[in-house]
Amino acid sequence: MRKQQLTTEFLIYNDLHELPAEDKVLMEAAIAARGKAYAPYSNFNVGAAVLMENNAVVVGNNQENASYPSGLCAERVAVFQAGALYPGVGIRAIAITASSQNYTVKEPAAPCGNCRQAIVEYEQKQQQPISILFMGAEGEVVKCTAIASLLPLAFGRSFLK
Ligand code: THU
Repeated sequence: MRKQQLTTEFLIYNDLHELPAEDKVLMEAAIAARGKAYAPYSNFNVGAAVLMENNAVVVGNNQENASYPSGLCAERVAVFQAGALYPGVGIRAIAITASSQNYTVKEPAAPCGNCRQAIVEYEQKQQQPISILFMGAEGEVVKCTAIASLLPLAFGRSFLK
């Protein structure tokens, strides 16, 4: 038997304006995308913006459905669109922001488990870390320098031979 401990590390910025310029621009793209979310059931709007190695920015937002599980989160809409548009191009970062039509989201909204798994796929594929930035509608912004810090011990392609 052996015991292993995992630690995770992230940065917390006081607000959007404290971010490095490139991250701020990406978060602003996510905020714009959030405004176009289709979320009539949860009233919870999420926007995501993916920065590619070729500097293209690909956005997404949550797309809900009357049959709830048929909807999709903003992060996966953005990441899958990035994969569809630029199949051979790496992803450098993804910015995520959430707001509610019912209250002011002041806490950073971390990506759900399914979205973490989807992002891990691309990080493993490109063998380069993907920065993850997330915030609510206002307030602090969290930055992780790899999705692996949000999903340690992830299942991945190495098992499928
Ligand atoms: N949602 C996202 O878009 N991303 C997440 O990481 C968490 C949740 C969406 C899905 C659904 O449309 C709404 O937020 C409420 O769960």
